[in-house]
Amino acid sequence: MSSSSSEYAIPNLKNIDKWREIEQSFPPLKNDLLLRAARGEETERAPVWVMRQAGRYLPEFLEVRKSHSFFECCQTPSLASKLTLQPIDRYPRLDASIIFCDILVVPQALGMEVLMEPSKGPVLPAPLRSPSDLERLNKDVDVEKELGYLFEAITLTRKGLAGRVPLIGFCGAPWTLMAYMCEGGGSKTFENSKSWLYKYPKESKELLRKVADVCADLLVGQVLAGAQMLQVFDSWAGELTPHQYAEFALPPCIYISHKVKSILKQLGHPGVAITLFAKGANAPSTFRLLSNPETTGYDTLGLDWTVDPLEVREWVGPKVNLQGNFDPTVLYGGKEGIEREVERLSERWKKAGGGWIANLGHGITPNVKPEDMGWFLECVHKYSKRD
Ligand code: CP3
Repeated sequence: MSSSSSEYAIPNLKNIDKWREIEQSFPPLKNDLLLRAARGEETERAPVWVMRQAGRYLPEFLEVRKSHSFFECCQTPSLASKLTLQPIDRYPRLDASIIFCDILVVPQALGMEVLMEPSKGPVLPAPLRSPSDLERLNKDVDVEKELGYLFEAITLTRKGLAGRVPLIGFCGAPWTLMAYMCEGGGSKTFENSKSWLYKYPKESKELLRKVADVCADLLVGQVLAGAQMLQVFDSWAGELTPHQYAEFALPPCIYISHKVKSILKQLGHPGVAITLFAKGANAPSTFRLLSNPETTGYDTLGLDWTVDPLEVREWVGPKVNLQGNFDPTVLYGGKEGIEREVERLSERWKKAGGGWIANLGHGITPNVKPEDMGWFLECVHKYSKRD
């Protein structure tokens, strides 16, 4: 895929000419470990952050949720910013923040209703069941109009961070979003979304590209508003065969990274590093496809906990940086269990070499005790130090 800038339409964003001014209005960054690791530096210790670090394991989050619905939190910049800062205020050991929002705001921008039901998670009451349903999706999505609240939340959060740590922007990957849009929510069998891939491969690719265009515009808008790094979450990548991953899931992800980088370059922006978290896409052949940031546009790959960092490093070679990959349930392991596992896995990571961003292999879960999260961060600081 070519990355020549002329083929991508520049989204209609109000920050398009103002990003320099906006960037200059932010306090200088005091902790750049994350950004250095994402450039491939073997940093003095691993920067650490945790997927879903703002969320239901935190009493201060639950307190806010008592009086505001989930999407109200996403759509109100002051609330989204407050929730993003909660883990940063509580844990001075965190080296990054991630803006409070959800991957499902993209299907919303495409015109689909998305509800967050208390015990069920996301529900899309009118899923896409056949290609004729594509007609229901909005044609030319204006991300500023639909999702401008996210850009505002980002600018506000950069101010609130006062340079403590960098701010990560994100979106869902097209395949994961397509899965939600076709299933109508979470799924065990992926019956509807995977039957799309088998029955309607051409229309599936059309849908994936449509989603990818909105994702790319959304990421560009986040960077212009102040996001300093980006992550694309392909949470359901592991549901695909390696062949399907290469045919359906990866190409729209590559389209996104190339489009984002190309538009930013065209605007004179220095650009940001991008992470791809393709959970469960762990075939060695898949890792080989992801080994070269120059072709994929992804500087860093997020790993889940089912792979070993040394093994992955062999498969991907030296060019790409890695993020991960503590088992999220280690946080239920008690102080000693946490320390033992952080020490063990940190040694593997240091041997693997290259840029390493410490993280869990998936999001932190609701029943984790906040003090155990604090202890985990403490242990990563101690054991990820390079001699
Ligand atoms: O702290 C952060 O990481 C930033 C905010 C964030 C949320 N969702 C907030 C959230 C991020 C980065 C996401 C990404 C997201 N959302 C993903 C990709 C990462 C992953 O976990 O695989 C996915 C698949 C979703 C979709 C989604 N949103 C689900 C399946 C659920 C319900 C289950 C759950 O984990 O809670 C959500 C809800 C959600 N998104 C909550 C939060 C804090 C909890 C909602 C609540 O308060 O009721």
